[in-house]
Amino acid sequence: MRVVIEDDYDGMSRAAADVVAGALAAEPRLVLGLPTGATMVGTYAELVRRHRAAGLSFARATTFNLDEYLGLGPDHPASCRRYLEERLVRQVDLDRARVHFLDGRAPDPVAYELAIAGAGGIDLMLLGIGGNGHIGFNEPGSSFGSRTRQVTLTGQSREANAHWFGAEPVPGRAVTMGIGTILESDRIVLLASGAAKAAIVAAAVEGPVDPAVPASALQMHTDVTIVLDRDAASALSGERASASG
Ligand code: GLP
Repeated sequence: MRVVIEDDYDGMSRAAADVVAGALAAEPRLVLGLPTGATMVGTYAELVRRHRAAGLSFARATTFNLDEYLGLGPDHPASCRRYLEERLVRQVDLDRARVHFLDGRAPDPVAYELAIAGAGGIDLMLLGIGGNGHIGFNEPGSSFGSRTRQVTLTGQSREANAHWFGAEPVPGRAVTMGIGTILESDRIVLLASGAAKAAIVAAAVEGPVDPAVPASALQMHTDVTIVLDRDAASALSGERASASG
């Protein structure tokens, strides 16, 4: 695992955008896995800015979204689909034919897995991390061999995401790429920001590989970059925490 520590959220977002832009430059037909969440907002904004200002093109890229709440349609304000549509898909030159979403109302996990395989697999998987260590919506205890499937959300995850739902209850179930699906990606970049993620980041990066911390599965992958801001890096061992860029 390579750990990159930036000063702040904006630095983390620029570093993540650098990885995506570099990968697109090397392979315009890049296949991307895309998460949602507050952590990713700055990265997508930076990619859109570079598309407009510097001609960064997604025209030949393919995307697969990572997860979705069960029961939510594409227009629901808290759906992962709407998040990605508004923050990236409609803002850049992605070809709709190559933009894939998990359908919260009629999920077909097998078809999704086949679509990923049909695209040649995911080249670059971007990830956030939940406060309980989840990646996608693979909650603690998820099998490291798990595939795209329906899952039950923990109370902690529902609470952490309540701010996207306003007065509405957060759905109790979701559909997510599995940890096995994620681990098949050629390259994985996990982002985390803020002191509230520090302990779980340290557990994922430096603790034992343990299904109780789903993100620790990434230690088994050969090409993982963890991009953090200083606060999210603050519980790492001194050696890691003093590393930079
Ligand atoms: C959410 C999503 C994940 C996301 C993570 C972190 O619940 N299912 O895909 O990466 O938890 O979210 P945030 O960036 O808002 O902290």
